[in-house]
Amino acid sequence: MTTFEQSCLSGIAAEVLEGLSRPHRALPPKLFYDEQGSALFEQITCLPEYYPTRTEAAILTANADEICSRIGSDVSVSELGAGTATKTRILLNSLVRLQHSVDYFPLDVSHAALQLAKNELNADFETVNVYPHVGDFEDLSFLGTHASPRLVLYIGSSIGNLEQSEAIALLKSVARHLSPGDHLLLGVDLVKDRDVLVAAYDDQAGITAAFNKNLLSRINRELGGNFDTDAFQHVALWNESAARVEMHLESTHTQQVRIDALDQTWSFSRGERIHTENSYKYTVGRLENMMRSGGFEVEHTWTDPQSWFAVSLGVITES
Ligand code: SAH
Ligand code: AVI
Repeated sequence: MTTFEQSCLSGIAAEVLEGLSRPHRALPPKLFYDEQGSALFEQITCLPEYYPTRTEAAILTANADEICSRIGSDVSVSELGAGTATKTRILLNSLVRLQHSVDYFPLDVSHAALQLAKNELNADFETVNVYPHVGDFEDLSFLGTHASPRLVLYIGSSIGNLEQSEAIALLKSVARHLSPGDHLLLGVDLVKDRDVLVAAYDDQAGITAAFNKNLLSRINRELGGNFDTDAFQHVALWNESAARVEMHLESTHTQQVRIDALDQTWSFSRGERIHTENSYKYTVGRLENMMRSGGFEVEHTWTDPQSWFAVSLGVITES
């Protein structure tokens, strides 16, 4: 395929081509989130092993009033990777008690998740106006269209799916769109016992395995691939030196996979892996340093009693 032909491919095709052509094959985690993937992620958030969602929800519930009192009055709320905005409701509940109405601007690559968020928020919050935006973190111009004061949410440890340099670049990009006094609330997962971490990404019911393999099913559906999802095994491991949980899909035997839209056949040897996700785990110190590197002054960081998850509030100051 020529460079010109590559540049004409639709979003997911170009990313799949690039990722499968690497010497160490990798696919970007944002490709997990088609309609099926978003629904599987919702199931993950309810798994007994997947502690991040309920732990962050508990932190938000315990501190929502304090968070909202710190961000001032008449704020609008924007959210990166909002998904179905389930945890956001905790903050919106507090906010609607403090101010008459709230304009809420969720951004996500998943149209299906945003649609659910909008329908459910509209049903339950009379004074929350929802303006969903389907898009990628790469383009944060939607932030620039909202009036200050603003609260930007980037919760759920989604920043953990980025490399450190990408994470800081993204925070800087958020900061560039904000004005002094605007806030960012950032939620990250913390380093903890290996067994707890691995179980969260390799649950007994196999939902995370299905979430991981859905990436291959999505390629089959959208690009005419013929991946046999049973011929790839879900692998979750804790890479201690990098402080991240990794997810891979490992070929159970030597096999060939055709992807019609790319007009190409890919060979996989037995044991060869496609790296599908990194989920970086932080310490409170590293989280706060990252906030500062991204252009925010840290106002406060909250954790749960076990220190499994942290939520940090940063503010843009006059420079
Ligand atoms: N914030 C929610 C959802 C987290 S799951 C929670 O805390 O539960 C991560 C979300 O980020 C998914 O809804 C996914 O569709 C979205 N996402 C992943 N990569 C993205 C990208 N590059 N740009 C925009 N949204 C992205
Ligand atoms: C969205 N993101 C923060 C989740 C995580 O924990 O890294 C995605 C996920 N992957 C497997 N389980 C959940």
